[in-house]
Parts: sequence; structure tokens; C-alpha cells
Amino acid sequence: MKNIAIFASGSGSNFQAIVDAVRSGDLAANIALLVCDQPGAFVIERARAANIPAFVFTAKEYWSKQEFEQEIIFQLRKHHVEWVVLAGYMRLIGPTLLQQYESRIVNIHPSLLPEFPGKDAIGQAIDAGAKWSGVTIHYVDEGMDTGPIIAQERTQLAADETRESLQRKIQSIEHKLYPAILQMLLTRGEVEQNEQTCIN
Ligand code: GRF
Repeated sequence: MKNIAIFASGSGSNFQAIVDAVRSGDLAANIALLVCDQPGAFVIERARAANIPAFVFTAKEYWSKQEFEQEIIFQLRKHHVEWVVLAGYMRLIGPTLLQQYESRIVNIHPSLLPEFPGKDAIGQAIDAGAKWSGVTIHYVDEGMDTGPIIAQERTQLAADETRESLQRKIQSIEHKLYPAILQMLLTRGEVEQNEQTCIN
């Protein structure tokens, strides 16, 4: 079973969905650590309730992104983390962390990328009068929501769609899609390995 760290900055409803999927057996992973850059975030309460260790930091207390990412890497190694799962982490990942976890950092974004990258993707879709929006899960690279896409699911906007109603639709997609895709990514190697074992 792979050790993962979840990075989050806010309420952590996706963090909770992943915790619940692990508990129910739908996701074979061990959530070894929460990394959070907002000391007041509700996700920290969720981690405490689930008995998951948290590394909480304040970026301003470091000289640079490189310095706090080195500290994060130290924490990730301490907890034997193999994959990094971004779930509402409101910072770009820098080269220090990207190099250490190349092709093992994933993110979820509330739009059909490449449409509406960056902040407030739900508001952007409403303001643009979009007919469709949805959810994207992608590998993380140095850009803002630009890495290779792993999965997308779309939803249609009603004529009277509001931010709130679209957010509800998107969240209900996210909470199913993220655990399901993580299960695929995290167990893929194991399936291949098992097949190897069978062939040999
Ligand atoms: C989600 O909509 C996710 O797609 C985006 O940030 C939001 C986090 O929400 N990256 P939550 O904290 O998981 O409730």
C-alpha cells in the first residue's frame, strides 16, 4: 500500500472524501501526512479527527519557497511519502519539490482544463456563460494547472446556474472522481507487478 501526503489550504472536503474512501476500502492507500500552509484551515481539524499527522507551516516564516519546500521534503521523507496529492493547495509547486516527486504529484481542478485555469475557476465559468464545466485531475508541472491530464468529468450548466449550485455539482463529482483516480494511479504498478509474478 502506497503512502500519500495530501496538501490542502482550506476546508478540505476532498481531503475528507479521500479519508472516507480509505476507510471504506475503496482506496488502497495510507494517508501518511497532511501538509497545510494555513494554520487556521478547517482541514487541520479533519486530520486531527482522522488521526492523520499534519505539517502546518506559514510561508512568510521562511526566506524563500525553496526553503519551505526543503522542509516539506524533510517531512515527506520522515513519513515515507511516495505520492503527493494536491487538494485545494493554493500554491504553485516549485522546482525543489517537483524534482523530488517527479510524475508523482497530482492535482484536482474545478474546470475542464485548459479552460479556466487558476483561481476561482467556478466563478470564471459562470462569468463566461459557459454551457459546460467540470473537473480535471492532472499531473503537476511548474505551470498553473498545466500538467498532463489524467481524467476529466463534465457537467452541464443550467440557464440559472449560480456559483453556489455549480460548486455543489462540482464538489459531488470531485468527491467520487478523486478517490477513484487515485486508486487507479496508486495500484497500477502493483497490478503490473502481480501480472509479472503470474507470468514468471
Ligand atoms: C476544490 O474545488 C479543488 O478542485 C480545488 O480547490 C477546491 C478545494 O476544496 N483545487 P476542498 O478544500 O477540498 O473543499
